[in-house]
Amino acid sequence: MTIQAAEVAKRRTFAIISHPDAGKTTITEKLLLMGQAIAVAGTVKSRKSDRHATSDWMEMEKQRGISITTSVMQFPYREHMINLLDTPGHEDFSEDTYRTLTAVDSALMVLDGGKGVEPRTIALMDVCRLRDTPIVSFINKLDRDIRDPIELLDEIEAVLKIKAAPITWPIGCYKDFKGVYHLAEDKIIVYVPGHGHERIEVPVIQGLDSAEAREHLGDLYEGFLEQLELVQGACHEFDQDAFLRGEMTPVFFGTALGNFGVDQVLDSIVDWAPQPLSRAAHERVVEPIEEKFTGFVFKIQANMDPKHRDRIAFMRICSGKYEKGMKMRHVRIKKDLKIADALTFFSSEREMLEEAYAGDIIGLHNHGTIQIGDTFSEGETLGFTGIPHFAPELFRRVRLKDPLKSKQLRQGLQELAEEGATQVFFPERSNDIILGAVGVLQFDVVASRLKEEYKVECAYEAVNVWSARWIECEDKKKLEDFKTKAFENIAIDGGGHLTYLAPTRVNLSLMEERWPDVKFRATREHH
Ligand code: G4P
Repeated sequence: MTIQAAEVAKRRTFAIISHPDAGKTTITEKLLLMGQAIAVAGTVKSRKSDRHATSDWMEMEKQRGISITTSVMQFPYREHMINLLDTPGHEDFSEDTYRTLTAVDSALMVLDGGKGVEPRTIALMDVCRLRDTPIVSFINKLDRDIRDPIELLDEIEAVLKIKAAPITWPIGCYKDFKGVYHLAEDKIIVYVPGHGHERIEVPVIQGLDSAEAREHLGDLYEGFLEQLELVQGACHEFDQDAFLRGEMTPVFFGTALGNFGVDQVLDSIVDWAPQPLSRAAHERVVEPIEEKFTGFVFKIQANMDPKHRDRIAFMRICSGKYEKGMKMRHVRIKKDLKIADALTFFSSEREMLEEAYAGDIIGLHNHGTIQIGDTFSEGETLGFTGIPHFAPELFRRVRLKDPLKSKQLRQGLQELAEEGATQVFFPERSNDIILGAVGVLQFDVVASRLKEEYKVECAYEAVNVWSARWIECEDKKKLEDFKTKAFENIAIDGGGHLTYLAPTRVNLSLMEERWPDVKFRATREHH
């Protein structure tokens, strides 16, 4: 195996999907603790109750001056290199989350054992299913009262339409939580409370039939055997191929707060989840072990320091190797750039990585030329597919409070649109600026960022737009005809693309019927 192939084989790139409050942040902390990225698990995000706590992680964040915790964390574990991508925590389902999930090879689904499958879990699973992303499941908060685990597995199968294969089974919960039983290996992994913030050697009892096991389970023993019989009769056995096809999820139980069970989940990702996979581009399929560098941008994030307008473009490497100082081709604008200062996200006190391989994420400083969906290569003209913009479903007209600031407003909106925080449309027939969003929270975020970062105050007004469609038409003459006839509803979006702003659903259907040669697209990808 070449060095490059060995490096690729070491990589696991995944994201956590969960409903707010299920425990994503807590698990992230424990995962980092496991990678010894932080000596003692502190707080990954500062919480109200715990604001004084500064972890090594936050210290590092300060040193590097950007918010790495909200995006990408890389750490070594068992001779492997783990890339953990954070999915943004807005209440709304956001495009950003979707695009982050296009950059991973597997996902960890976290459920609150007391609640089971929740609305956001369903929405995120739907996204994962689009690419058949393999999913590992973790049922959290076993140190509390949880619902009947059999019922939880049934719910996963019925609601999320994926087969659930328990790898471990919980012994009791809340005050009676004794640990988990590993079904295939016939061993009990014992829960020792009070070690939530450190790595300990977890005691293991071999054999459920042993005297030690009987003693550990005490009154729970007989009941547990009965339940186990039921589980073994009714549940699926784990099948790695079905997992890799996205049809089956291995299920683990534990408590993130108690730092119990998270290591089994990480082990399963190392053992079973795929290494970086091949990626489709419009021109061809790119293999991760190809020698030449390629990658695509899936996210753009503003610098946390509002004084610096600098933004970071997050790129997933698809093939080859990034080396400090290398030349990359920015395919869309056909320019070669020397990249000397890409950020890598290696979360340890050791030296910063100077190289990165397929599956890794690097951050490029973006001064406005990089957009979401852009492909980079070593010269080849290539465009990765599957990083779409979605047609927004909510629209507002922007009204400026101080008319003299219209230049700042345009610039701000343009930049926020590039970041994917909103979509912006400039109608042909007026000087209006119309914002589009997929979730209603996006509007508030944009207004407050305009105020903070661009010193522009704006208000929103209702506007008569039902949906937007990106227009394509091969026949130039027909396209011109269409543009003339539909002039009232034509706009240019933030990326310079022709769009049709449909006032109603009926209007859109009528237009689609009337103009069979014109394509009205609900998603847009770069070509
Ligand atoms: P999120 O990122 O998915 O939104 O969830 P987060 O980790 O912030 O966890 C949400 C709440 O659930 C937190 O409590 C956290 O401490 C708690 N939690 C996470 N894992 C477990 C667990 O295994 N057992 C129990 N009992 N609780 C767990 P909080 O009160 O909202 O925050 P904090 O005041 O503790 O910081």
